[in-house]
Amino acid sequence: MKGFVPTPAPLVDHMVDKLFRSAPPTPSSTLLDPGCGAGAFVEGVIRWCTRAGAPVPWITALDSDPARLREARQALPHLDRITLLQEDFLAPRREQFDYIIGNPPYVAITGLDSVERARYRRQYLTAVGRFDLYALFFEQALRLLKPDGRLVFVTPEKFLYVQSAGPLRQQLAAAGVEEIELIDEGAFAGLVTYPAITTASRRKVGQVVRVITRDGASRQVPLRGTGASWLPDVNGVPRADAPHNLTDAFLRISCGVATGADGIFVMRDENVPPALREFAYPTISGREIGVGEQPRPRHQMLIPYKLDGELLTEAELGPLHAYLAHPARRAQLSERTCVARKPWYAFHENPPLGDILRPKILCKDIGARPWFVVDEEGVIVPRHSVYYLVPKDPGMIHGLCDYLNSPSVSDFLVANCQRAANGFLRLQSHVLKRVPLPEHLVTDAQMAIA
Ligand SMILES: C[S@@+](CC[C@H](N)C(=O)[O-])C[C@H]1O[C@@H](n2cnc3c(N)ncnc32)[C@H](O)[C@@H]1O
Repeated sequence: MKGFVPTPAPLVDHMVDKLFRSAPPTPSSTLLDPGCGAGAFVEGVIRWCTRAGAPVPWITALDSDPARLREARQALPHLDRITLLQEDFLAPRREQFDYIIGNPPYVAITGLDSVERARYRRQYLTAVGRFDLYALFFEQALRLLKPDGRLVFVTPEKFLYVQSAGPLRQQLAAAGVEEIELIDEGAFAGLVTYPAITTASRRKVGQVVRVITRDGASRQVPLRGTGASWLPDVNGVPRADAPHNLTDAFLRISCGVATGADGIFVMRDENVPPALREFAYPTISGREIGVGEQPRPRHQMLIPYKLDGELLTEAELGPLHAYLAHPARRAQLSERTCVARKPWYAFHENPPLGDILRPKILCKDIGARPWFVVDEEGVIVPRHSVYYLVPKDPGMIHGLCDYLNSPSVSDFLVANCQRAANGFLRLQSHVLKRVPLPEHLVTDAQMAIA
């Protein structure tokens, strides 16, 4: 049957405590345990009530797997307050409950057949993109929660940030989230990657949420109701809509130069013929920027442009013309798509040399973690696999670079950057531009301009 991962008793007790601590059950309270498995949460509820001297609520525990339900029937006491049902929780239902607690099934869309996928897409707003069954359990449970009810679920934390969980984040924000606790993978003996306990309470709509991170730290954060990723909020990273961002301190934040034919325009330093030296500029690729290292360009880029960014005429190219017009090179250059709208020796994009040849900060476009380095002399031409940031005030370049290498910027980029195929971060200038700028650097930047 789908998605059976039993919840260990200590975790069950921790979650039941979250459910009842601030609002213990009364004799008429009702509780739902959807996907009850062998009844771990029902046992936990009975333990809590016995310990606290509180009445056991009216419990409905259901599971679609008959074998699990048989286990639950054997394990649980036969009380008239406990009803065990073999039912599909995701089928339409109406009855509402004061408490809902559970560990819903984790079943990715790939584990569902096409009939199930189509049915869920029709019936659930959270069944979008590469959805997971636990998102649908959340949606159904929120629907079945009484107006002042409380819900506690343990699930993988992925719903905090994956794009397909945007509708779930909107629903949770609208329903009211009281707390999100990120718990250790050891809680499930490594069976669940990055688990999180979510406590939803309708009384908490629009208020701040308590976030408990894996290092035990706790903070109050406002969660966005827009469907955007909650990771920056949960990690305590400055929000992307902070009052000041990198555009306040940098003249330009761009991707490096795209020649469209690096094999022709870029060559090792020692291979540059003396006649072409006047067109050669030290250049660096993303691969050559190592964490903790200073940039050391070993290649030169032959640039057929003036410093103001204007393309040299063929007559002005001199010896560079002879090199580029060699038949094999000219043929290769002429095949580039950009040549449809540009001279045959132009770069794919015109290089803004006036900005590039200034003191600047460089970072490779894709990497396990971002690492920024300073080109203090402003002589390096970054290739297309490098982002460059030109500060308004060159005197602030080291302070800005230290800030860019700080854990808070790293967290921001981890939370906001796209991932490349291998899980590496893919920088983009629109994300870099939104990196918040701390007050002290804003002040320095403003003083520098004044
Ligand atoms: C992760 S297990 C948790 C079991 C139990 N609550 C625990 O914590 O030990 C999820 C349970 O959901 C059940 N399940 C999966 N799909 C279901 C559905 N559509 N309706 C009801 N139960 C379902 C599975 O059979 C499984 O027992």
